[in-house]
Amino acid sequence: MAKFSLCLLLLFTVLFGHGIVELEATHHIYSRLQTPQNETKTPWDYRFQPYRTGYHFQPPWHWINDPNGPMIYKGIYHLFYQYNPKGAVWGNIVWAHSTSRDLINWFPHPPAIFPSQKSDVNGCWSGSATILPGEKPVILYTGIDPDKKQVQNIAYPKDLSDPYLKEWVKSDKNPLMAPDNVNNINASSFRDPTTAWQGPDNIWRVAIGSKINDLGFAILYKSKDFLNWVKAKRPLHAARHTGMWECVDFYPVAPNSHCGLDTSTLGPNVKHVLKISLDDTKHDYYTIGSYNYTTDKYTPDKGLIDGDAGLKYDYGKFYASKTFFDSAKSRRILWGWINESQSVADDIKKGWAGVQAIPRNIYLDGSGKQLVQWPVSELEQLRSSPPINVFDKRLEAGELHEVTGVTAAQADVEITFEITDISKAEEYRPRWTHAQWLCNTKNASVRGGLGPFGLRVLASSDSQEYTSVFFRVFKKADNKPVVLMCSDQSRSSLNEDNDKTTYGAFVDVDPIKDKLSLRSLIDHSIVESFGGSGRACITARVYPITAIEDKARLYAFNNATEAVTISTLSAWSMKKAQIS
Ligand SMILES: *[C@@H]1O[C@H](CO)[C@@H](O)[C@H](O)[C@H]1NC(C)=O
Ligand SMILES: *[C@@H]1O[C@H](CO)[C@@H](O)[C@H](O)[C@H]1NC(C)=O
Ligand SMILES: *[C@@H]1O[C@H](CO)[C@@H](O)[C@H](O)[C@H]1NC(C)=O
Ligand SMILES: *[C@@H]1O[C@H](CO)[C@@H](O)[C@H](O)[C@H]1NC(C)=O
Ligand SMILES: *[C@@H]1O[C@H](CO)[C@@H](O)[C@H](O)[C@H]1NC(C)=O
Ligand SMILES: *[C@@H]1O[C@H](CO)[C@@H](O)[C@H](O)[C@H]1NC(C)=O
Repeated sequence: MAKFSLCLLLLFTVLFGHGIVELEATHHIYSRLQTPQNETKTPWDYRFQPYRTGYHFQPPWHWINDPNGPMIYKGIYHLFYQYNPKGAVWGNIVWAHSTSRDLINWFPHPPAIFPSQKSDVNGCWSGSATILPGEKPVILYTGIDPDKKQVQNIAYPKDLSDPYLKEWVKSDKNPLMAPDNVNNINASSFRDPTTAWQGPDNIWRVAIGSKINDLGFAILYKSKDFLNWVKAKRPLHAARHTGMWECVDFYPVAPNSHCGLDTSTLGPNVKHVLKISLDDTKHDYYTIGSYNYTTDKYTPDKGLIDGDAGLKYDYGKFYASKTFFDSAKSRRILWGWINESQSVADDIKKGWAGVQAIPRNIYLDGSGKQLVQWPVSELEQLRSSPPINVFDKRLEAGELHEVTGVTAAQADVEITFEITDISKAEEYRPRWTHAQWLCNTKNASVRGGLGPFGLRVLASSDSQEYTSVFFRVFKKADNKPVVLMCSDQSRSSLNEDNDKTTYGAFVDVDPIKDKLSLRSLIDHSIVESFGGSGRACITARVYPITAIEDKARLYAFNNATEAVTISTLSAWSMKKAQIS
C-alpha cells in the first residue's frame, strides 16, 4: 500500500545506525506457575454475564491491570498484562501473556513472568519490551524484593525460535537497577521501565518513573551492554506538583505522517512524546517536545503543560498505557487499561475486574500540537456487513432517532454531523476552561442552541437507562466555534452503586469547515468514543440493568433548540473476537 512505502521513505530520511549488543545469557529454567483455582468456581461460571465484553481484551476471570511489554516478534503480536491469578482484586501480580496475529483475536499462554527470584519475590510489576539488534526481544520490569523495595530486572526468551516466546528466563545479575545509599532513589517510588532507546553513541537509555515529595520525574539510566546500567546525573524530565509518575512512555513521532517510528529513531525532523500516568489523578497525560540526546534532556514544546492542566490520551477511563512500534506495518500502537466503575464487592461477585482498550494507532496531528488516536483497522474484520446506513437526515430539535437492525450492546457506530451556521450556538465564556465541569453543568438533559446532539447508547426502550455521548458547539466573542464532547453516564444504570462520573473534552476541530465526527465502540459495559476523527477520546464503563443484550437500543439524538443534519451514520453489529 502507498502508505507503507511512504513510511519506509520516512524511515530512511530520519534513521540513524544501530550497534550490535550481545547479551550474556544465564539459563535458568523455571517451572510453570500453577494457577490456583477457586475450589468452588471455574472460569466457566463467569462466561454468560451481561457485562463481559465481546471484542475488548479480557481473560476468563480475575483481576487485570496495566498492559505490559507489547511487541511484535516474527509476525506475532504479544500482549502481557498485570494479572492476579488468584482473584478479582489486585494482588499476587504476575505477567499474564497472550498472542495474536491481528491484535483482535488472542490466544492465551501461561504467565510469562512470575516471582521466582529474590529480586521479584514480592511481585512482578510493570515494564516494557525492547527489541535488540538481531531481532532479540528483552523485557525490563519492576520486581518487588524481600524488603519490598522496587528494583528493575531483566528477562529474555528461553528460545528465540519459538515465535510465541512462551518461556522467559531471568538474569542472575538481577536486579540491574536498585535504590541504594548513594543514588537517593525512593525505594517505594521507582518503577515501570520504558522501552529502551539507543543514541547515535550506541548507548542504551531507559527511563523509570519516580518522585520526591510532589515533584514527579523520569530517572534516566544508561548502558552499553543492556546489563550494566548507570544512573544519569539528571532526569530525562521533571515537573512540580505532579506526584508519582507511573508507566512513563517516551517515543518519537514523525511530523505530517501517520507512520510510526522505531523507538530509537532520532533525526532533525523527529518530535518526541513523553507520557506520564499520574498516580494522584489516575489519568494518562502527554506532552510533545524535543529530545536532545547530547544532554539527554526532553523539553516540552511551548504551550504544552505537564500534568493535570495538560493533554490526556483519553478523558475517561484509560490508565497505565503503553505504546510499541509495529515494524510489520510501520505504525505505533497504544494499549491502555480500563478499570471497573463498580464496587469491589461487585467485582468479586462477578469474578473479574479490568479490560484492555482496543489497540489504537497513534500519530501526530497535522497541527503538531496534539496526537490523534484511531482503533487499529484490524478491528473492522469483526463488523458484520453491510452496515445500517443513514444519509443526510435532518434531526429536528428534541428528536430521538432509533437505529434498528444492529446488536446495540455489541456495535461499532460512526456518525458525522454537518453544521452550516453557528449563529444560534450558546456563547462561550472564557472561564469555561474545564471540559469535564462544563459537561456536568451542561449535561445531556440541558438544552442548548447547538447541542447536545450525538449518540444515545446502551439505552432501554423506556428511556430509563442510557449513556449519552454528544457534542455541544459554542461560539466565542469573535464568532469562532468551540466544540465540547461529553460522555454522560448519569443515567447509565438504575444501579446507584456505580461510579457515574461524566467526562468531557474539548475537540480541536472547526465544525463549519470539517464535518463533526464521532465513533463509539459499544461493548456491553464499555463505551469507547473517538471525537473529531480521533482528536478527543473518552472511554466509559457502564452497567445497565435493563438495557442489556438484545434489550439494548441505539439512537441518534438532538436535544438542542436548532436542527442538525446527520451527514452519514453507519452502524455495524460486531462479531465476537476469539480471546479466551
Ligand atoms: C471462591 O468462591 C466462593 C464461592 O463463590 C467465594 O465465597 C470465595 O470468596 C471465592 N474465593 C476467592 C479467593 O475468590
Ligand atoms: C517515597 O515514596 C513513598 C510512597 O509513595 C512516600 O510515602 C514517601 O513520602 C516518599 N518519600 C519522599 C521523600 O518523597
Ligand atoms: C543539544 O544540547 C547541546 C549542548 O547544550 C547543544 O550544543 C546542541 O545544539 C543541542 N542540540 C539540539 C538539537 O538542540
Ligand atoms: C478505577 O475506578 C475507580 C472508580 O470508578 C476510580 O476512582 C479509580 O481512580 C480508578 N483507578 C484507575 C487506576 O483508573
Ligand atoms: C443536569 O444539569 C442540570 C442543571 O445543572 C441538573 O439540575 C441536573 O440534575 C443534571 N442532570 C443529571 C442527570 O445530572
Ligand atoms: C432535552 O432537554 C429538555 C430541556 O432541558 C429536558 O427536559 C429533557 O430531559 C432533555 N431530553 C433528553 C432526551 O435528554
